[in-house]
Amino acid sequence: MKKYRLAIFASGNGSNAENIARHFSNHHSIEVALLLSNNSAAQALAKANALGIETIAFGKADFKEGGSVEQALVERGITHLILAGFLWLVPVFLIKRFPKRIINIHPALLPKFGGKGMYGRHVHEAVKMAGEQESGITIHIVNERFDEGQPLLQAKCELLPGDGVEEIASKVQELEYKHYPAAIERWIVGA
Ligand code: GRF
Repeated sequence: MKKYRLAIFASGNGSNAENIARHFSNHHSIEVALLLSNNSAAQALAKANALGIETIAFGKADFKEGGSVEQALVERGITHLILAGFLWLVPVFLIKRFPKRIINIHPALLPKFGGKGMYGRHVHEAVKMAGEQESGITIHIVNERFDEGQPLLQAKCELLPGDGVEEIASKVQELEYKHYPAAIERWIVGA
């Protein structure tokens, strides 16, 4: 059992989760010990299983104080929670149990284009509608409100007038894969 054990929470495709898991596959002190999803059909579950990572699918009733999610995290000695496309608000009891040890990535330059309902292509559509000349990612500590925790890193990409939602999503996703694993490592074990 390594010193730092990560649990990844993902609701959908899981490409960031997979990228993070691969990054830490042979790390000296950090391992991805568990992937959890609120969506039993999430591709993230299959991706984690293919990498030999234990997975848990859960529902609303499990995601409360003393519920099976909290028990699973404690039993496995989880030290940090990584949100990677997780669409539910993290309950206060988890934020208290993992103070400054829950991190999220948002596919825009917060505080713009954040908050409830701003996820996936909704974000890129809003950026496009606003006529922004740049977008990017924000990696931040998670608190009780969507996308409002202390920022740890922002990275930007230039947008061209002809860029549609797909092009914006692709440019942002490139930044996610490039920066998230290393940002997690710096946040956990320092620079
Ligand atoms: C990413 O755009 C991430 O920034 C956001 O949710 C999306 C997850 O994509 N939080 P994937 O499931 O990792 O492919």
